[in-house]
Amino acid sequence: MAATRNINLDQTFYQAADAFFPANHKVGLTFDDITLATLYSEILPRNTQLDTTLAEGLHLNIPVISADMDTVTESRMAIAMALNGGLGLIHYNMAERDQLSQVSRVKYHVQGLIQDPIKVAPEQLIGDVLALIEEKRFGFSTFPVVDAKGRLVGLLSGHVVKPRYAAKKVIEALTPRQQVHTITRKELGKDPIARADKFFTEHLGIHKLLVVDEDDHLHGLITMSDVERITQERKAQFKPARDAQFRLICGAAVSATRNAFGELDRARILNHAGALVDRGVDVVAVSTAHGHSKGVGDTVKVLRDAFPKLPIIAGNVTSAAGVEFLADCGANAIKVGQGPGSICTTRMVAGVGIPQMTALYVCAGAAAKKKVSLLADGGITKSGDIVKALTLAQSVICGGMLAGCTEAPGEVMEIGGKLYKQYRGMGSLAAMKAGSAARYGHEKADATRKLAAEGIEALKESAGSVDRVLAQLIGGIQSGMGYLGAANFEQLRQKARYIRVSPAGQREAAPHDVVELKTGN
Ligand code: XMP
Repeated sequence: MAATRNINLDQTFYQAADAFFPANHKVGLTFDDITLATLYSEILPRNTQLDTTLAEGLHLNIPVISADMDTVTESRMAIAMALNGGLGLIHYNMAERDQLSQVSRVKYHVQGLIQDPIKVAPEQLIGDVLALIEEKRFGFSTFPVVDAKGRLVGLLSGHVVKPRYAAKKVIEALTPRQQVHTITRKELGKDPIARADKFFTEHLGIHKLLVVDEDDHLHGLITMSDVERITQERKAQFKPARDAQFRLICGAAVSATRNAFGELDRARILNHAGALVDRGVDVVAVSTAHGHSKGVGDTVKVLRDAFPKLPIIAGNVTSAAGVEFLADCGANAIKVGQGPGSICTTRMVAGVGIPQMTALYVCAGAAAKKKVSLLADGGITKSGDIVKALTLAQSVICGGMLAGCTEAPGEVMEIGGKLYKQYRGMGSLAAMKAGSAARYGHEKADATRKLAAEGIEALKESAGSVDRVLAQLIGGIQSGMGYLGAANFEQLRQKARYIRVSPAGQREAAPHDVVELKTGN
C-alpha cells in the first residue's frame, strides 16, 4: 500500500513531458527552470550510447554541433568536431570560394588515403611552393611532384621547402622517383589502413607512401600520422563522424540571398549549394533568425528540388507551425531557438522569442509527426542543459560553449592576466557588416545604413581544445543518462520526468555557501 502511494507521489510530482509542459503552458520555461528526476538504473554512464541520426545519411556519434557563426566554426573547428563524433557547420560570413575551400579542408583531413593530394610541378620554384603554402594556409610542406601527364617524378620533402632555397627549382630539390616509396592501388587491397600500417612498420623512418597505377600516375598519398590516428580512433569510444568514403563529415551554412529587386536569388543559392555539394558537403543549413517565413521556406524548397537527397537543416523556429512549415518545404532537421543564445539580444530588441525548454516541447510533437529531427540551438551553458535538451531534441548546437576553444577562429588575447577569444552574435553590427545581415532579414545594402543589431560582441575565456571541452560535455551527458537509466537517447526521451525549480532551488543547484577553490571543469 505504502509502496503504491510512493509511486503515485513520484508520478504526481515528476511528470512526463506530455503532462508537465501542458500543465505549465502559461509560462515559458528554460533549462534552469526545470530539473529531471532520477530513476531506477542499471545503466553505467560509460555504457550509454550517444549516437543520433539527424537525417538519412547524416549520422553523428555524439549529439553536439558547432554553430555556424564566424567566431565559432571554420575548418579547424569542423575538423575537431567531426573527429570527436559531432558536426561543424561552417559559417557563411566569407566569400563563397573561401567557404568552399574550408569545406574541402575538412573533407580532405586525415583520410586513410588522400585521394587527390596537392601536387607541385618539377619546373616550379621552391619560392612558389612557399607562397602556395602561405596562401592556402597548408599545415604541411611535403608534396608529390608530377609531370604534365600526372606521372610521379619524385617527392619534395618538407626539409627543403625553406626560404633559403626559394630560388631553386623543385626538380633540383626533390627526392627522385626511384627513391620514393610507392604502392599500387591493387596492392592496397580491401583494408588500405591495415596494409599501410604494415608498410610503415616494415620501413623504418618512412612517413609517406604514394599510391600509383601501373603507368605511374599518382592516385593518392598515405601518411603515417593519418594511419596512426585512424588506428587509434578504431579503439576510441566515440568514433569520428565520417561519410561513406571515410571522410570527416562537414556542414555549411547557406543564406536565403536576395537579388537587387528584393527577390530570392534562386540561381545564386543553387550555384552556392551545388558547389558545396561538389566539395562533398554532408548537410547545408539555411540559417536565419526567422525560419517560419516565405524566404526561408522558398530557399529550402529550391534546395530540396535541386538536391533530393541532400540533408537540409533549416531554422530558426519556436512553434509547431514553424516546424511543420519547414518540414513541408523539405527540411530534415529544424533548428529551434529564438533568443536563447549567450550573445543574442533578439528578445530585448524585437520583444520576441520563447524560453528554450518550452519551445522544444512545443516543436517536438510537430517534429515527430513530420518525421524530422530537432536541433536545440542556443542557450547551452553546461552539460546538464544538453541532457535536458536531448529529452526533446536529437542534437544541440553550441556557440558560446565552443567559442573559447583553440580551434575557434580568431586570436587569443590577454586581458588582466587572463586569456580570451572574441565571440560575437551573427546579428551583431560587426558580423552583419561582414555579411550576415540577410540572416536577420536586412538587405545587404542596409549594412551601410542603420541596422537594428540583435546580438552583441563579447569575449569568452580561453577554454583549451575542443577535445577537452567535449570530453567534459560528453561525461555530463553520460552521467545524466545513467541517472535516468537510459542506455540511449530514445530511452532518455521516454523516461524523462520533469519538475519546476523555484528560485531557491536554482541557487541550491549551483555551488553555494562555500569559498570555491577550483571550478568543476
Ligand atoms: P550560444 O548560447 O550557444 O548560442 O552562444 C548560439 C546560437 O545563438 C544564435 N545566434 C544569435 N541569436 N542574435 C541572436 O538573437 C545574434 O546575434 C546571434 N548570433 C547567433 C544562433 O542560433 C547560434 O547557434
